[in-house]
Amino acid sequence: MRASEQRVALSLWLLLLLATCSGGVAAQQSNGVGVALIEAARAALLSEAAALSNSSDWPASYEPGQLSESYDYIVVGGGSAGSIVASRLSEQRNVSVLLLEAGAQPPLESDIYALSGSLHHDERYMWLDEAQPNGNCCLARRAGSGCNWWHARMLGGGGSLNGNIYVPGSAANFRRWRWQLQLKGWDWPQVQVAYRRLQQQLQLNFLPLQPLEAQLAKLIYAAARELQLPRPRQPLLMGSDFGYTHDVPATVQQGRRRSSARQYLAQPQVRARSNLRVLLAAQAQRLLFKRQRAAGVQYTLGNRTLRALAKRELVLSAGALNSAKLLLLSGIGPAAELRALGIQPLRDLPVGRNLHDHGMLPLFLRFGNDCGLNASSSRSAYAPASVAEYLLQQQRGPLAAGFSMMGFINSSAPHSRDGQPDLHIVAHTFMPRGSAGSFEYLGLRPELVTAQRAALAQAPMLQLMGSLLLPKSRSKLQLRSADPQQPPLISSAYAADPADRATLLRFIRYVQLMLTTPAFQRCGLQLWLPPLPACDALTPDSDDYWLCHIRHMFLGAWHAVGSCRMATRNDPRGVVDERLRVFGVQGLRVVDASIMPEITAGNTNAPAMMIAEQGARMIREDYNRAAAAATLAETTEQPNDIPLYD
Ligand SMILES: Cc1cc2nc3c(=O)[nH]c(=O)nc-3n(C[C@H](O)[C@H](O)[C@H](O)COP(=O)(O)OP(=O)(O)OC[C@H]3O[C@@H](n4cnc5c(N)ncnc54)[C@H](O)[C@@H]3O)c2cc1C
Ligand SMILES: *[C@@H]1O[C@H](CO)[C@@H](O)[C@H](O)[C@H]1NC(C)=O
Ligand SMILES: *[C@@H]1O[C@H](CO)[C@@H](O)[C@H](O)[C@H]1NC(C)=O
Ligand SMILES: *[C@@H]1O[C@H](CO)[C@@H](O)[C@H](O)[C@H]1NC(C)=O
Ligand SMILES: *[C@@H]1O[C@H](CO)[C@@H](O)[C@H](O)[C@H]1NC(C)=O
Ligand SMILES: *[C@@H]1O[C@H](CO)[C@@H](O)[C@H](O)[C@H]1NC(C)=O
Repeated sequence: MRASEQRVALSLWLLLLLATCSGGVAAQQSNGVGVALIEAARAALLSEAAALSNSSDWPASYEPGQLSESYDYIVVGGGSAGSIVASRLSEQRNVSVLLLEAGAQPPLESDIYALSGSLHHDERYMWLDEAQPNGNCCLARRAGSGCNWWHARMLGGGGSLNGNIYVPGSAANFRRWRWQLQLKGWDWPQVQVAYRRLQQQLQLNFLPLQPLEAQLAKLIYAAARELQLPRPRQPLLMGSDFGYTHDVPATVQQGRRRSSARQYLAQPQVRARSNLRVLLAAQAQRLLFKRQRAAGVQYTLGNRTLRALAKRELVLSAGALNSAKLLLLSGIGPAAELRALGIQPLRDLPVGRNLHDHGMLPLFLRFGNDCGLNASSSRSAYAPASVAEYLLQQQRGPLAAGFSMMGFINSSAPHSRDGQPDLHIVAHTFMPRGSAGSFEYLGLRPELVTAQRAALAQAPMLQLMGSLLLPKSRSKLQLRSADPQQPPLISSAYAADPADRATLLRFIRYVQLMLTTPAFQRCGLQLWLPPLPACDALTPDSDDYWLCHIRHMFLGAWHAVGSCRMATRNDPRGVVDERLRVFGVQGLRVVDASIMPEITAGNTNAPAMMIAEQGARMIREDYNRAAAAATLAETTEQPNDIPLYD
């Protein structure tokens, strides 16, 4: 179902509930029992629906009284990471915290697992940033579009509309951060301490398998067994390992989303904190500096331009696209480029240079026969009965889930446990016969959308998405101009590095190997290739054909990281140090997915939240250490006595 259809479906089902439950009943003959029962059912449905979308669960949006207000800490961006930073800092009762979030409260669709896709193209809830088109990647996208770098815009950020999949990355990732990149404090045992704090607060669950997904999982497990692929030796929560699993931890409970905003900010004891202000619809424009110190932020609230001043620190948690953009707008970035845009450079740092993502290459397998799926296909998520089941049966049923499994393999040696997995088979999505497919959602060319629908008119398909766990290619984020309202200028380099292309070729060959298994053959599964005239002119199934296919179909995977890279002091690639402090200025940190030097093995939400737990702890520790030192030295520095410049 397409996003627009989903939105319509949502309002339709609410109407249907009302119509079927009240309209017409009174007009019929009844001795009262029937009408009373139906009225009771209606009341129960409506009260459950009201509780789901209860906006007083969220922190009250604060209205600033003055042009400038000051706080000990200001957190910019209330997404996956920022919600945690603001909550943890405001645990200290004698410390005031302002959280600025450009978006709104999460809407009802954010709460219900199966409906959140309807928000993915909605400009009120997303920043639909796209790269400049280039001749090398994402060529299947609509004319004039480059690669998609869409990201969330609401309280809770990505955590309020994502797939809820929780993957902490692998031990090898963080061993590398610590021992190759020399980043103290980020070894696996240390980040696990932060993960434990996070998990305690999130209360993770597993996504329930619907009958259809269970059937698909069986199919993949059978093929993996026949290929003698390794099986995971540990639960995913202990770190990404080789093999397939359907036991995927999720930030969801009984079909209701548990974003970091819900778990860290919407709790009654947090809402009651008078030292925490949450300001929605407040978009930071640029940072304010006093000499070398970040002193505050200028932001817009409706048609007003206001300022907030940070007495201790300013924390950027605006996500990998917008934290970098804000630094650039504030004069922190490649100096020559900033000067060319008329921005006075403050610090020459490689902001925006290490932007990367797993990317994803969807491959489509057509079913040649029913394969037992028909019998197990569940009721549509949008059917009134599904809605009633969801509301009345503790959020069960098709609206509550829809995911099957994921796998991690070494594409050079799929049978082995050698080294690390370099390939993530992200989701096994079933597209039923007659469905609209995924191409419109992905913003592909109209002729591709039509071709996929035509194929789906004949047979159902399985979508296998391959993502790079160790991508070498790096994209770049710059500014178009000094105007904060302009989207950033992004140069995508998906699979620009030959090593990445080679891994994707091995992914394709691996899927072809799966197609030879008895399990897949029993279902008559065959590759379905979208029509790509430039590639179709090449020798079928040659590496050249597939490299062309990759240039067209390897797309953004919503996992932007790395634009404000963490590095040691002597590493020229660094924007922040290992305590997340921006180099060369005081009182400024970046605490979100931007700081990853290298992307982790798996979806990025859990690592972004772990980074927030680490960052909040570091901010508190560093303050206490500095306070102790200041008491000793009896320094009298007053950070507020110098005029602001911006
Ligand atoms: C459609 C989609 C599906 C995904 N699926 C998964 C998944 O299943 N599992 C997974 O692990 N990861 C998933 N991800 C990725 C994951 O959600 C992100 O990696 C994660 O949210 C990043 O956290 P963050 O705190 O760095 O940024 P975000 O969560 O993006 O938060 C940034 C926040 O800052 C706000 N902001 C930005 N600019 C400003 C400004 N100028 N002023 C004020 N506020 C501002 C934004 O509105 C946003 O709320 C998905 C992402 C998307 C978009
Ligand atoms: C909404 O939430 C508030 C505060 O948590 C609560 O008092 C109220 O009863 C809730 N309303 C519904 C309809 O559940
Ligand atoms: C706040 O309280 C903590 C102890 O709860 C203390 O360590 C810290 O110094 C206090 N900070 C200020 C600014 O008073
Ligand atoms: C700004 O918005 C407010 C409230 O929406 C409105 O009353 C006011 O006229 C606006 N001011 C300007 C200058 O547009
Ligand atoms: C699946 O079941 C439906 C109804 O039960 C039937 O109409 C349809 O033909 C079946 N499809 C296949 C591929 O068996
Ligand atoms: C995959 O296995 C091969 C062969 O054993 C090994 O050389 C390679 O390093 C492994 N890949 C990774 C990414 O570890």
